[in-house]
Amino acid sequence: MTPAEARSRIVALRAELARHDELYYRRAQPEILDFDYDRLKRELAELEAAHPELAAGDSPTRRIGDDRAEGFARVRHRQAMTTLDNTYDEGELREFHARLAKLLGSEDLAYVIEPKIDGLAVSLTYEHGQLTRAVTRGDGEEGDDVTANVRTIRGLPQALLDTAPPACIEIRGEVYLRWSEFERINRLQEEAGLEPYANPRNLAAGTLKLLDAAEVAQRRLEIVLYGLGHSEPAELFVSQSACQGQLAAWGLPVVEKFWPARGIDAVCAAIRELDEKRRGFAYGTDGAVVKLDRCDQQRTAGFRGEGQAARKLSPRWACAFKFAPDRAETRVNAITIQVGRTGALTPVAELAPVQLAGTTVKRATLHNADEIARKDVRVGDTVLVEKAGEIIPAVVAVLVEKRPPECVPYVFPQTCPVCGTAAVRAADGVVWRCPSPACPEKVRRQLTHFASKACLDIDGLGEEIVDLLVSRGLVKTIPNLFRLQLADLLPLKKSGEVWAGNLTAAIAARRSADLWRVIHGLGIPQVGAASAKDLAARFRSLAALATADELALMSISGIGEKTAQAILAWLAEPAHRALLAELEAVGLQPTPPPAPVAGSVAPLAGKTIVLTGTLPTLTREEATAKIEAAGGKVSGSVSKKTSYVLAGEEAGSKLEKARTLGVPVIDEAELLRLLGGS
Ligand code: IVH
Repeated sequence: MTPAEARSRIVALRAELARHDELYYRRAQPEILDFDYDRLKRELAELEAAHPELAAGDSPTRRIGDDRAEGFARVRHRQAMTTLDNTYDEGELREFHARLAKLLGSEDLAYVIEPKIDGLAVSLTYEHGQLTRAVTRGDGEEGDDVTANVRTIRGLPQALLDTAPPACIEIRGEVYLRWSEFERINRLQEEAGLEPYANPRNLAAGTLKLLDAAEVAQRRLEIVLYGLGHSEPAELFVSQSACQGQLAAWGLPVVEKFWPARGIDAVCAAIRELDEKRRGFAYGTDGAVVKLDRCDQQRTAGFRGEGQAARKLSPRWACAFKFAPDRAETRVNAITIQVGRTGALTPVAELAPVQLAGTTVKRATLHNADEIARKDVRVGDTVLVEKAGEIIPAVVAVLVEKRPPECVPYVFPQTCPVCGTAAVRAADGVVWRCPSPACPEKVRRQLTHFASKACLDIDGLGEEIVDLLVSRGLVKTIPNLFRLQLADLLPLKKSGEVWAGNLTAAIAARRSADLWRVIHGLGIPQVGAASAKDLAARFRSLAALATADELALMSISGIGEKTAQAILAWLAEPAHRALLAELEAVGLQPTPPPAPVAGSVAPLAGKTIVLTGTLPTLTREEATAKIEAAGGKVSGSVSKKTSYVLAGEEAGSKLEKARTLGVPVIDEAELLRLLGGS
């Protein structure tokens, strides 16, 4: 490769990795598998090593993203959260051991092998035995404060079982979701006509970053703890196995099993045993973590990249061995197109059935037109399919050498396969959509969503009945539902009087449904239940929502620019304005949330309030919303300018600071009184 070629490949790889980082970390919607990501990243590292003159100071050499999101307070880790180097190769694992053996002057090193849990790294702080904080990894130095959300995890003790606990200790682990919980939530998603989550890890990540702890509590997040960060006193344990034992004795959830091993052959044998057992574990396990057992040896080995940013440090005393994903070869019999609720056209490979990781795989997503073109997937091709996170099958590569000569490149349809309307592509996006408001498949999915539990919750109006109503031409739009008469329904079922009576009554009863449910049911891109609630509180009617402008939307805390733009684009469609008008015309009178006291001046106008600790009834987000609705501002740090510190249980250093600065401290009851509540 010439230097010019290397340069252009390096630039391309960096851009591609940056895009995948964005998809993985910020949007929790990865397009490629970890395995392929790691391959790209390794190619970049090799090119940079061969051309040091082209290496950028901060180019990614491993998945070192930054999970920080809007809406959370930032907290610095007392000790940085580093990450591990991955390998898929036994040879590299042996090199890892050889380096350590040389450094420590012994072949006979004691290791522990732990499952590598496929979750989300968090750091918990226990002060004098009490859980005071939970923070995501963030950039390794500073993460998001997710304490309220982590407190909803059943099975995580708020206090350590210890009569003389350490003064302060950071305990590291992973938040995850069980397969069964992942499947349960995805069933609800699908019932609501929403996209299912790609894998438990993404769903766990999305859940931990919800701004409403009450919503988090409805999904059963779990946690497993495996290590230490900062501790006071320092050097609490002599070994990793002693640390594991103490975590368990404190009553914390720990890994099902870890394997002590002496020497590299025993390490490899333990990893093989883990590979056999891991499918029975509660969490997804994508590899093994090999750690030097003795803490004094860990300290001697130290970190690679010392003196650099935390996200670039990696311990020399630990290594992640990742299991290659399950793959199988099969034939693409057809490529079909699924039409989603928003009209998105998603290509799906219909496969010759193949056994993969214990299940039969017949279909695999191809994501979008660009992905098909990039991989050049054709009908008739032999492809490799893989179960990403052991769940959603994906086509990872085409075996071009097996391509029959008659295979022609796939041409993405220019029209909706259901209604024939010309497809359109949003200026910024990769997704083609059917723009027709009358597309029966779109209508079917929209109605199912509108009637689902998450939205209007119309009893007896599930997918099957929606199909029936749409196929008979009785319902073509959401407002049509409210015009259904008994006489329309009676011919649909033999002796269907009771059924028809119940259904019309159930629909009529929802004319006064909560406004946020109706807004959620409209299916505005980017608007889920939480944003729908914000919109309902601000606009209080569909008519007012129809007049929303950018300024009004951006002034709502919780609605970011992307959501605001999506709402404006949706409202700009004449068909959508007509839909809102029509809903009023059919007598839909949604109920807005309770109004703020009429005529009252904003009681907290000009006040800045800092929150600390856990409040007895309000979540952090609820308290923030109330303060903001009353004209106040919430700030993350205490200064002389702070008007009040709102302190709950287990309030931390902010409370001390308030006392030193003489800032008034209030509790929840006092806040409610200030708001004019009681
Ligand atoms: S120890 C400095 N042990 O995998 C070493 N990490 O790719 C810190 N992980 O950043 C990590 N299971 O988020 C360790 N048993 C385990 C783990 C584990 C999962 C995660 C962790 C880490 C990443 C490394």
